[in-house]
This record gives sequence, C-alpha cells and structure tokens, in this order.
Amino acid sequence: MTLTNMVGVRCCFKLLYAIVVLILLHMNNPCIGCSERERQALLALKQGLVADFFDPFLSWGREAENKDCCEWDGVYCSNQTGHVVKLKLYGLQGKISPKLIELQHLEYLDLSENNFSRSQIPDFIGSLSNLRYLDLSLANFGGLIPYQLGNLRNLHSLDLSDQDYLSSSNLYWLPNLSRLKYLDLSFVNLSDVVGWLEAVNMLPKLTNLTLWDCNLPPPVISSISLLNSSKSLVHVDLHKNNLNSSIFQWLLGTQTNLVYLDLSENKLSGRIPETRFSKLSKLRFLDLSSNSLVLNFSFDWVPPFQLRQIRLGSCKMGPYFPKWLRTQKSYDWLDISDAGISDTIPTWFGDLRNKVEYMDSSHNQFRGNLRSELASYYLNVSWNQLEGPIPSILSTVSILDLSNNKFSGSASFLCTSTTEKSNLTYLDLSSNHVSGELPDCWINFQKLHFLDLSNNSLSRKIPTTMGNLISIRTLNLNNNRFVGELPSQLKNCIELIIIDVGENKLSGLIPEWLGENLLNLAIIILRSNQFYRSIPPQLCYLTQLQILDLSMNNISGTIPKCLNTLTTLAQKENSAVIMQHEFIIPMGELSATYWGYHDDATLTWKGARLKYKSTLELVKSIDLSSNKLSGEIPTEITYLVGLVSLNLSRNRLKGQIPSRLGNLQELDSLDLSRNQINGRIPTSLSQIYRIGYLDLSQNNLSGKIPIGTQLQTFDFAYGGNPLLCGEPLPRTCSEEEKGPRTTCVGE
Ligand SMILES: *[C@@H]1O[C@H](CO)[C@@H](O)[C@H](O)[C@H]1NC(C)=O
Ligand SMILES: *[C@@H]1O[C@H](CO)[C@@H](O)[C@H](O)[C@H]1NC(C)=O
Ligand SMILES: *[C@@H]1O[C@H](CO)[C@@H](O)[C@H](O)[C@H]1NC(C)=O
Ligand SMILES: *[C@@H]1O[C@H](CO)[C@@H](O)[C@H](O)[C@H]1NC(C)=O
Ligand SMILES: *[C@@H]1O[C@H](CO)[C@@H](O)[C@H](O)[C@H]1NC(C)=O
Ligand SMILES: *[C@@H]1O[C@H](CO)[C@@H](O)[C@H](O)[C@H]1NC(C)=O
Ligand SMILES: *[C@@H]1O[C@H](CO)[C@@H](O)[C@H](O)[C@H]1NC(C)=O
Ligand SMILES: *[C@@H]1O[C@H](CO)[C@@H](O)[C@H](O)[C@H]1NC(C)=O
Ligand SMILES: *[C@@H]1O[C@H](CO)[C@@H](O)[C@H](O)[C@H]1NC(C)=O
Ligand SMILES: *[C@@H]1O[C@H](CO)[C@@H](O)[C@H](O)[C@H]1NC(C)=O
Ligand SMILES: *[C@@H]1O[C@H](CO)[C@@H](O)[C@H](O)[C@H]1NC(C)=O
Ligand SMILES: *[C@@H]1O[C@H](CO)[C@@H](O)[C@H](O)[C@H]1NC(C)=O
Repeated sequence: MTLTNMVGVRCCFKLLYAIVVLILLHMNNPCIGCSERERQALLALKQGLVADFFDPFLSWGREAENKDCCEWDGVYCSNQTGHVVKLKLYGLQGKISPKLIELQHLEYLDLSENNFSRSQIPDFIGSLSNLRYLDLSLANFGGLIPYQLGNLRNLHSLDLSDQDYLSSSNLYWLPNLSRLKYLDLSFVNLSDVVGWLEAVNMLPKLTNLTLWDCNLPPPVISSISLLNSSKSLVHVDLHKNNLNSSIFQWLLGTQTNLVYLDLSENKLSGRIPETRFSKLSKLRFLDLSSNSLVLNFSFDWVPPFQLRQIRLGSCKMGPYFPKWLRTQKSYDWLDISDAGISDTIPTWFGDLRNKVEYMDSSHNQFRGNLRSELASYYLNVSWNQLEGPIPSILSTVSILDLSNNKFSGSASFLCTSTTEKSNLTYLDLSSNHVSGELPDCWINFQKLHFLDLSNNSLSRKIPTTMGNLISIRTLNLNNNRFVGELPSQLKNCIELIIIDVGENKLSGLIPEWLGENLLNLAIIILRSNQFYRSIPPQLCYLTQLQILDLSMNNISGTIPKCLNTLTTLAQKENSAVIMQHEFIIPMGELSATYWGYHDDATLTWKGARLKYKSTLELVKSIDLSSNKLSGEIPTEITYLVGLVSLNLSRNRLKGQIPSRLGNLQELDSLDLSRNQINGRIPTSLSQIYRIGYLDLSQNNLSGKIPIGTQLQTFDFAYGGNPLLCGEPLPRTCSEEEKGPRTTCVGE
C-alpha cells in the first residue's frame, strides 16, 4: 500500500466513525439535554425551596423558557444519555418535593448544608434506586432515619452526619446496603441501637466507618460477629461514645487493614496487651486518649506499625518511659500526657526524621533536662519534674507550656539570635525556679497573646521592651521579685485584657495610663506591692473592668466617686468580655490550626485564695483592702449592682455605710472590717439575700443590728463595735438604741 492510499483509508474510517457516533448520540438522547420529565421534577423541587443567601436557582429556567436543565447550577447530566445523574444544592430552606423521584437516573445526590428545619428525611429518597452517593449531612433533618434507605442497594457512600435532631432506634435496614464503602452517621443519636455492631458487620465492603458522638451503647459481641468481622475496614472513627473494651475484640481481632483508629473519649478500661496490636501493620493514626486504659506492653516490644499520629493521653504506660516509642520514626503528633510515667527523658526521645508538630507529655513525672530536639509547634511538658536551664527552643514553637516544673537558671533563652521574629503565641513558665533579670528583647514577640511568668524568682525591673507586645491579652507576672515602677511603655499593649503583677515589690504611683490607654482591661491585679498615693480616677474609664484588686499596697487618699461609670460592674448580667481566646497558630510549613485558651485568675474570696477559670466570667469583684484609704465610702459604689465581692477592710475609712448598699443584690461577700466606720448598719443590708460572708468587725458602728434574712447568722461579723446591740450579739438594745421604728408593710 502506498502512502496516499493509506491516508485515504484513514479519512474514510474517520468519517464513518463520526457518523456512527452521531447516530448513537441521537438514538440515546434525541433532544440533547435533560428530559421534559426531569425538567419538571427539578422545577417542582425548586418550588419547595428558598435560598438563604446564594441563590442557585437564578440559572434555573422558568417553564416558558425551554432551557436545557443540564445547564442549571447544581444539575449535572450524563454526557452519554443526557439524563440528570448528579444534583448538588446547598444554602436552601424548605421542603423536598416528592417529584424528586422522577430523577430516576440520579446517581449522586448531595443536599448537605441546607436547612430542612428538623423535618424527616423523606422516605421517597429510598426510591432513587440508582443512587451511589448520598450526602445529607449538615442539613438540619430531624426525627428518625427512614428504613426505606435500605432500598438503595447501589449506594457506595452514605453521609447523614451533623444533624442535632436526627436519631435512629435501629439499623436493621443497613445490611441491605451491601455495596457501602463509606458510612458517616456522626452526631446522629444512636443510643437505642443495641445491635449497631451486628448491622455494620454485615457490610462486606465497608472501608470508612465514622460514628462519632452518636451516644453509641457498648457493643454486644457475639461469637458470630467475631467470625464474620469486617476485614475491609480502613478508617474507624468511633470517638466520643459509650463503648467499653469489648470493642477491641471486634476491631483488633482480625481488621489488618486498619489505617486510622479513633476510640478516644469512650469508656474503655482495663489492660490492653501488645498482642492486640500485633496485626495492625498498616496503622498510621491511633487515638485512645481520654479513657481509663492501661497499655501493658513489654519493655522490648517492637510494634508492627509506623504511626504518624500517636494520641494516647491518659493511657497508663509507666512507670518507665515507653521504649517502643523509639521504633516510631516519623510521627508528627504525640500525646502521652497523664501516662503515669516516672522516669528520666531518654536521650533518643525526639530523634525523628521529621519535625513534630504537636507534643504533649504533661502530667507525668519526667525528670532530667529538656532537650532542644523536643521543639515542636505545640510543646506541653507542664506538671513534671524537669530541671536545669531552659534550652533555646523558641525558634519555631508557637505554644509552649513549661509550667509546674523545676526549671532554674535565668530567662536568657528568651533572647537568642533564633528568637528574632518569633512565632511564639503562648508562653507559660509559671511555678518554676527561674531567677534573675528578665531579658529585654520583647520586640521579638509581637505575636505573643499569653505570657505567664508567675511564681518564679524573677527580679529587678520589668523590661521596657514589653511595650512591644502588641498582641498580648494576658500578662501574668504575679509572685516574683520585680521592683520599680510599671514601665509606661506597657501603655502600648492595647489588647491587654488581664494584667496581674501582684505579689512583687513594685512601687510608684498606680499609672493613669492603665485607664487612659488599656481600654480592654477586664482584670487588674496589683495586690501585695508597694504602690502608693491615690487611686487615679482614670481607672473609671474602664467600662469592661470586672475585677480590681489593689489590696495590700500603700494606697492613700479617697475612693474615687466616679465608680458608677464602670459599666460591667454596674450590670447584673454576665460580663461582655470573653475570657476564652482563639487564634490561628502555624503548624508546620503548610498547615495552620485554631487554638484557644481560657484565662484564669487567683483571688481572695471569703478569706481564702482561690483560682477561677471556667467561672471567671461570673466573678465581679473590688478588693481595696489593707491600704491607707481614707474618707467616706462613696455612695456611687451602690450603683455597682453586679458586684459579687466587695472588700474595703483594713483601711482608714470614716463616715457611715451608704444607706443603699443593699442595692448590691448579687453580693456574696462583703468585708468592711477594721476601718473607722460609724453610725448604724443600714437596714437595706438585710435585703442582700445571697450574702454568704459578712465582716463589719473592728469599726465604730452603733445601734441595733437590723433584723433580716441572714444578718443574724454571722456571729463574728460585728465584734469590736462596742456600741452595737441586738442579735446575734449578747447585748440587748435599749429603747433609744433601737432607733426610729421602721414601718413594715401592712402595719
Ligand atoms: C463524559 O464525561 C466524562 C466525565 O465527566 C469524561 O471523562 C468523558 O470524557 C466524557 N465523554 C465525552 C464523550 O465527552
Ligand atoms: C432553619 O430554619 C428554621 C425555620 O424554618 C429557623 O428557625 C432556624 O433558625 C434555621 N436554622 C439555621 C441553622 O439556620
Ligand atoms: C432489604 O432487602 C430485602 C430483600 O433482600 C427486602 O425484602 C427488604 O425490604 C429490605 N429491607 C429494607 C429495610 O429495605
Ligand atoms: C438520645 O436518645 C435517647 C433516647 O432515645 C435520649 O434519652 C437521649 O437524651 C438522647 N440524647 C441526646 C444527646 O439527645
Ligand atoms: C456475614 O457477612 C456476610 C457478608 O459478608 C453477610 O451476608 C452475612 O449475613 C453475615 N453473617 C452474619 C451472621 O453476620
Ligand atoms: C477513608 O479513610 C482513609 C484512611 O483514613 C482516608 O484517607 C480517606 O480520606 C477516607 N475517605 C473518606 C471518603 O472518608
Ligand atoms: C461491654 O458492655 C456489654 C454490654 O453491656 C457487656 O456485655 C460486656 O461485658 C462489656 N464488656 C466489658 C469489657 O466490660
Ligand atoms: C503485663 O505484661 C507482662 C509481660 O509483658 C505480663 O507478664 C503480665 O502478665 C501482664 N499483666 C497483665 C495484668 O496483663
Ligand atoms: C498542658 O497540659 C496541661 C495538663 O495536661 C493542661 O492543663 C494545659 O492546659 C496544657 N497547656 C496548654 C498550653 O495547652
Ligand atoms: C513563623 O511561621 C511562619 C508561617 O508558618 C513561617 O513561615 C516562619 O518561618 C515561622 N518563623 C519562624 C521563626 O519559625
Ligand atoms: C508555686 O511554685 C511552687 C513550686 O515552685 C509550688 O509548690 C506552688 O504550689 C506554686 N504556687 C502556686 C500558687 O501555684
Ligand atoms: C507609703 O506611701 C507614702 C506616700 O504616700 C510614702 O511616703 C511612704 O514611704 C510609703 N511607705 C512605704 C512603706 O512604701
């Protein structure tokens, strides 16, 4: 054959092929596009739904327009048959029209992220017999899952997760879905489905099983379910349920393909021997945290797997450091907190091929030094017995919690060449033995939100570069040996919500800029220092102020009258300031994650020191005790109706108790003792029904103690006021002391 000949034959074939394709297309799909029946079904569907925000229906033609529905947003047709095979709609509210079942060729239905107002999942969805993929997650469906879903025999993937009001009392329809590979029913209430494991077990192709936070009851294991246990499972997420350790019999018996296993936050207990894990050579993700497990692994155990994430918080592995961790060479997440390990940190710990992102070994009894190899983006070694100097690990770390150890030496690790432009967001060094001067390179820490150096032995002056901490919200320098004044540069830290410099040797005036510049301040603690002179009225600008503790200083002058402008304290409702802080932290080269913390504060309450954390938002308190305040208690204080605790004791206050102090209906604790207050106890005090602690002792009060709900129960509240009389004091009142008769309603 010559070359020209060949070209001719080829041309001919091409033409023929084109004709055949055209004929075929014409036969299958005479009008190219969806059928009229499908178009009408889609229009009926549209009728029942309205768009919340983004309207997908803008592109959907009205009846008059003979538009091809395959072109409509969210509608996809087969390019071979022209039928609608895929439908994906989101951001809608309303009802699903039963006309949906006219879309008999539908293989893929995604109605996630809509709002169906807790209505039932329509049972007619079970008639879409060609469905391979069904996603109804986050769609606010309610009621029970219809058993008709069991008719969807071709289904590969079923996702009904993330509905707060959906539940199921049984799953007997589930085994009918024999082609199912992916099942996600997270957040569906399955508390009554005792036979859930049997049902799941009859799905021979299931690879991904996600049932977290489903109230799943403990599995009932029968010998049959063990014999037939699903070998196909790759990914099992059953965290936050009520499972007990019987689950291991099923999961770890034969289900060698497992890559991902999350059983955290269940009720697993008892000892697990290493043999349970002997077949899991493909495992990469293991989370057994927040259970009551003991991992009884032999000292020289070599696991068959190489994990990427090891999450074993609260699993007991001690007392020796688990040596099997040495065989794991490339994890990026390790949680062995609260593991009962009482050992020195081995030198190999942290020698990895990659950088660890998350490392939590808090709440053990680790001894020895901290090695810089342990640096990660999140490093928590708090509540151990680590000692020696702190290595320079701040170059990449974002969250660092070294608190409650025995670290000593200076804080010089903060200022090395590698800390330039640090990503540090959270630093807790509290309750260690760090001493000496705080280095002055805080200009490097512009991302720092939280700094807690409390309960150490830091001395000298607070460095002026701390004024560069432009992101700081929580600053805690409590219980050190700092001297001098609060540096005025701190007035640039305008994000500050909490400043606690109590229990140091600071002196000078209480800075006016606290009130003028730091308008977000909710908590000021200057307790137990040597601040002197008067309280600046600028503090009254702090509308968010919730806790003011200036106790045990050398403060004189009068209490400012402008107190009534402290808006938060003048409201009974919860404070507006949120003590939970969230921010994004870098985690490795490409990823970032949300992370948050809740503030705490230590206060004197009814004479005892207490730490408040989850309830901190509820605490509204003024403590000016143990100073040299003089003059009268300003009546403006009676506007602060949100106050839960007021302590003005151990000052030189004179005059009378404001007659309307009883307005402070939320007061739980009131201490005015050891002043020079005179006059009668106002009857309004007897109307503070919540009061649980009262001390008016060592004043010059006189007359009859008003009769009231609780005032008679405080036996020791009135001592040292010789002119007081009446119950609970033994001295009865003379007619004169009883004072003007108070008129009671009805008399
Ligand atoms: C039909 O669509 C599929 C997937 O969208 C595509 O891979 C295929 O090439 C298309 N066939 C024709 C003939 O256009
Ligand atoms: C869902 O719609 C109902 C009204 O039908 C409304 O009350 C509810 O707030 C909506 N839920 C969400 C999450 O938008
Ligand atoms: C399951 O399939 C069987 C047929 O194999 C059928 O009779 C039954 O109705 C189906 N059950 C459900 C709940 O769909
Ligand atoms: C789940 O359902 C059970 C009863 O079916 C009910 O007692 C329980 O309160 C439900 N749990 C939640 C979190 O709704
Ligand atoms: C065992 O699994 C198969 C599917 O692999 C299922 O057909 C059968 O009903 C199951 N038997 C039991 C007793 O669970
Ligand atoms: C199934 O599990 C594997 C292994 O964990 C995971 O990589 C994959 O994304 C999961 N697929 C689905 C659809 O959930
Ligand atoms: C788990 O709970 C089931 C059902 O209550 C019970 O039969 C089984 O003995 C429990 N297993 C363990 C290890 O406690
Ligand atoms: C713990 O493991 C050791 C060997 O590794 C074994 O001798 C011992 O019996 C196990 N203890 C329990 C309670 O399983
Ligand atoms: C570190 O761990 C302790 C105890 O496990 C915990 O209380 C603390 O919040 C953790 N610190 C951070 C920064 O997450
Ligand atoms: C800080 O984080 C960013 C973003 O993840 C990263 O590019 C940068 O290298 C980090 N800086 C340091 C000093 O690690
Ligand atoms: C302060 O640290 C010491 C150990 O250095 C510890 O015993 C003590 O409980 C800590 N105090 C507070 C209030 O945390
Ligand atoms: C207390 O403050 C006064 C000034 O108001 C000052 O003269 C005195 O030295 C201070 N006392 C102490 C112990 O700091």
